[in-house]
Amino acid sequence: MVLLLLPLLLNLLSLAVSASVVKVHRMCHVVPVGKGGDDGPSILSAFNQCGQNGKIVLDQYYSVNTVLNTTGLNNVHIELSGVLQDTPDIAYWSPNSIFLTYQNAEQHYSWTTLLLIISSSLMLRFPQYGGGTIDGNGQVWYDGLTTGGSTGVAGGSSTTFARPVPLTVFNSKNVLITNITYLNSPFWNNFVYQSQYVEYSWITMSSHSYSKNFASNTDGWDIYRSDHITIHDCEINNGDDCVSFKPNTTNAWVYNMVCNGSHGISVGSLGQYAGETDIVANVLVNNITMLNAQNGARIKVFGGNPSPNSMAGGGTGYVKNITYSNFYVNNTDFPITTNQCYSTPAATCEAYPSKLTISDVHYINVTGMSSGAENATVVTLECSEPCTDFTATGTHLVPPAKFGSPVYLCANITNTGALDFSCTAP
Ligand SMILES: *[C@@H]1O[C@H](CO)[C@@H](O)[C@H](O)[C@H]1NC(C)=O
Ligand SMILES: *[C@@H]1O[C@H](CO)[C@@H](O)[C@H](O)[C@H]1NC(C)=O
Ligand SMILES: *[C@@H]1O[C@H](CO)[C@@H](O)[C@H](O)[C@H]1NC(C)=O
Ligand SMILES: *[C@@H]1O[C@H](CO)[C@@H](O)[C@H](O)[C@H]1NC(C)=O
Ligand SMILES: *[C@@H]1O[C@H](CO)[C@@H](O)[C@H](O)[C@H]1NC(C)=O
Ligand SMILES: *[C@@H]1O[C@H](CO)[C@@H](O)[C@H](O)[C@H]1NC(C)=O
Ligand SMILES: *[C@@H]1O[C@H](CO)[C@@H](O)[C@H](O)[C@H]1NC(C)=O
Ligand SMILES: *[C@@H]1O[C@H](CO)[C@@H](O)[C@H](O)[C@H]1NC(C)=O
Ligand SMILES: *[C@@H]1O[C@H](CO)[C@@H](O)[C@H](O)[C@H]1NC(C)=O
Ligand SMILES: *[C@@H]1O[C@H](CO)[C@@H](O)[C@H](O)[C@H]1NC(C)=O
Repeated sequence: MVLLLLPLLLNLLSLAVSASVVKVHRMCHVVPVGKGGDDGPSILSAFNQCGQNGKIVLDQYYSVNTVLNTTGLNNVHIELSGVLQDTPDIAYWSPNSIFLTYQNAEQHYSWTTLLLIISSSLMLRFPQYGGGTIDGNGQVWYDGLTTGGSTGVAGGSSTTFARPVPLTVFNSKNVLITNITYLNSPFWNNFVYQSQYVEYSWITMSSHSYSKNFASNTDGWDIYRSDHITIHDCEINNGDDCVSFKPNTTNAWVYNMVCNGSHGISVGSLGQYAGETDIVANVLVNNITMLNAQNGARIKVFGGNPSPNSMAGGGTGYVKNITYSNFYVNNTDFPITTNQCYSTPAATCEAYPSKLTISDVHYINVTGMSSGAENATVVTLECSEPCTDFTATGTHLVPPAKFGSPVYLCANITNTGALDFSCTAP
């Protein structure tokens, strides 16, 4: 059966919809309006018409000044071989982007998003014929953050400077995003939120500021309340975590990655809010090249707190079954770091150790050279309560030559005999 849409409809929607030979298989080819016009409405129309059992072709340059809130997608292939560029319009995006509550609703700790993908069952592809770009036009946001003095956390706290996430996968299942480039995200590049079976591969990412203002918080991925997440074969240049496993990430695989200039591949931060339970379990991070970074293999957990309403530690839960293997670092401040007193004053952490346990953590073949920012220290494993079943094999980490022999700091790690380096107390 051949499906044809009325030419009138096409004109109205600024869409070229071509026929397809497969029953209920629709194709929408989005034609840009040009002359600096907003292509958002046309793209939304394409999602509406072809977002189920269809294909959407984005093979031109599109300027987007409309929040792309897509929903109900199912078995759709999106061929992004062109460029989706978000306008640098802080006044539009800040109040209009979608607020997603993150962790503590009372704190209105929410992120905005430009392209939000919602579905219960979906196969979304930027497939092999992709090669396109999502350009977040971040420079105005990097500059605005510095000059405006606002951290731009969305939700209740700001509708005038709320930095958006270019692509969020929300309440989705079976999503594949492959072979595309992300440029200059205003904030996190990717947010994976309450989703399962999401895979990203062959992603090239660069969030780079061309002014003196840093490209802050340009995390590669933040994963939250999600299960079965895979990220592989990506090249990331950014200014914050390369990948971050936020609360309730389970079964995550990250491999064959080059991360440059980042804050590492991080579990956490966790345990920030008293009364909340955060879990990160079953994570395998393998074959990583980590260059010019603040951290390499990192776990960060808040300490405890006496207040039942604390928003600065005191949460409970666990980190369990985490493996970092074949992890090469160079010019990295903390090649291996686990901190269970993250952002917690030492005295508070000593009086109120963390209630979020860390166990079953394995470092296999972590090698390379630190930056020397911590002098000779290449490993810090500092827990406030005993951290159990940590192992390290094949560790070959050195500081730059002038700092001499490497130093490994450990506190409250049970069975340091299972580590292939000699711990000293901090
Ligand atoms: C996004 O779409 C969903 C589903 O249609 C809807 O419930 C929600 O209100 C929309 N959000 C915004 C901010 O438009
Ligand atoms: C990515 O897309 C480009 C451009 O179409 C293509 O040449 C290349 O083979 C694709 N790569 C992968 C890994 O799919
Ligand atoms: C490790 O990852 C790199 C890409 O960063 C890839 O070229 C290489 O083949 C991978 N090695 C193995 C053994 O898979
Ligand atoms: C890493 O980032 C620095 C600073 O942006 C850049 O000069 C360098 O070429 C990058 N290295 C790689 C391997 O991408
Ligand atoms: C994480 O999962 C646990 C156990 O299911 C649940 O109690 C907790 O509320 C979840 N936390 C978040 C932040 O979703
Ligand atoms: C530990 O995590 C890895 C990676 O997700 C998984 O393959 C393995 O089955 C997990 N082990 C246990 C005992 O759950
Ligand atoms: C660790 O490195 C050694 C030597 O390169 C290699 O034989 C071994 O397979 C690696 N271990 C893992 C778990 O990849
Ligand atoms: C780290 O990079 C520097 C500069 O490129 C290089 O000289 C050094 O050999 C590298 N160190 C290791 C351990 O690979
Ligand atoms: C590194 O050593 C110098 C000289 O001893 C010292 O002043 C500095 O505080 C040390 N830095 C760190 C991070 O320990
Ligand atoms: C180790 O844990 C104990 C509680 O079990 C705590 O009193 C102590 O401060 C911790 N040590 C360090 C160095 O954090």
